Amino acid sequence: MSTQEHWERIYQTKTPGETSWFQPHLETSLDWIMEAAPDRSASIIDVGGGESTLVDDLLDRQYCALTVLDVAGAAIRKSQDRLGSAAKSVNWLVGDLTEVALPARAYDLWHDRAVFHFFTDVERRSAYVRQLSSALKTGGHVLMATFGPEGPQKCSGLVTQRYDADALLCVLGPDFRLAQQAVVEHQTPFGTTQQFLYCHLVYG
Ligand SMILES: C[S@@+](CC[C@H](N)C(=O)[O-])C[C@H]1O[C@@H](n2cnc3c(N)ncnc32)[C@H](O)[C@@H]1O
Repeated sequence: MSTQEHWERIYQTKTPGETSWFQPHLETSLDWIMEAAPDRSASIIDVGGGESTLVDDLLDRQYCALTVLDVAGAAIRKSQDRLGSAAKSVNWLVGDLTEVALPARAYDLWHDRAVFHFFTDVERRSAYVRQLSSALKTGGHVLMATFGPEGPQKCSGLVTQRYDADALLCVLGPDFRLAQQAVVEHQTPFGTTQQFLYCHLVYG
């Protein structure tokens, strides 16, 4: 099954509360975004945004240059339905983040929660870093939340990669500088916890 088929099926068959990564509001992401990019005209992309309510919360805080990208059209449609008319002010992209044509040097902030750790293949990971490096503005911010050193080794039936900050920096390469990191225990809707590593990195 392709990456797209896998994720389309997830969003077609599960409600948000039936997925382990669900959080009603991405509080850590929101706090860190507002700190890294306080200007409400900052251009922000949420890759693999899924059905997350981050876009709702950023709109509520008057951010006005938002892009949400996901490989699953079903996830994007659910987010658009949830937002109603407010969805019109968001740029929505459906496709694999390594293949979608993104404008060069366009984004002040790239947000990824629970996506990069699915890139376990070296070539796919390199393609991710190439896309990130081309789409971010020089001096732009990356806010990445991956599974931490004691996080799960599988999620949604897929193998995942666990990271500490050194390992993440090693994969992203010398153009990225670590500004902040934190380990956060995510409470899943099933009453279990998953360890996440949040890293704020600056590009260039
Ligand atoms: C575990 S979910 C996390 C969703 C969301 N970021 C959150 O925190 O609630 C992973 C998301 O990444 C998306 N995804 C996986 N691989 C992708 C890819 N190659 N390109 C774009 N999106 C992808 C999936 O469709 C899914 O929505």
